[in-house]
Amino acid sequence: MSVRRLAPAELQPKEFAFTAANMEWAKKQIAKYPEGRQASAVIPLMWRAQEQHHGWLPEVAIRYIAGMLGMDHIRALEVATFYTQFQLQPVGSKAHVQVCGTTPCMLRGSAGLFDVCKKKIHPEPFHVSADGKLSWEEVECLGACVNAPMALIWSDTYEDLTPESFEKLLDGFAAGTPPKPGPQNGRQFSEPEGGATALTDPALYAKAKQK
Ligand code: FES
Repeated sequence: MSVRRLAPAELQPKEFAFTAANMEWAKKQIAKYPEGRQASAVIPLMWRAQEQHHGWLPEVAIRYIAGMLGMDHIRALEVATFYTQFQLQPVGSKAHVQVCGTTPCMLRGSAGLFDVCKKKIHPEPFHVSADGKLSWEEVECLGACVNAPMALIWSDTYEDLTPESFEKLLDGFAAGTPPKPGPQNGRQFSEPEGGATALTDPALYAKAKQK
């Protein structure tokens, strides 16, 4: 797990405001909550601000959203610094890669994925690659252990990775041609590799249809 700090002052923009379209969307989110509970919209609004601001959340945007929701700034800062879905430093323009390093992914080979990140992106996490396109970090379990090892890029998960398929995946993102999300070894969701191994007798289903 990483220390979650705001980007240094020299990287922080001076201003942030939602675009007109995002402001309209934000107002609809806020209206979903009863009077006095507007702060509940803090996560979706910060997520939208991050999307608008090149994939990372500057301090001025956190303060802007706290102001919109009538929250103390410190409360919005607490949320932004707690959840790893919020990026507090500039990230790669094409992909910020969050590789799971928790036990099931580690047992299934995530160490090899970290080696790929170090080789192809930067030896250290939270640094943008030389061409500005990619960045990476290690995160805790992302809830796709059944398809370990896996990585989250923006809003999608890429699963059943090997160092080879992961390198290909990163090349695809850098080239602007990301692969389809989900398992990268050809299996369907979390079905057994190579097809079903139980309940394969068609007679079972014929009987069910008769009933
Ligand atoms: S341990 Fe990696 S997704 Fe759960």
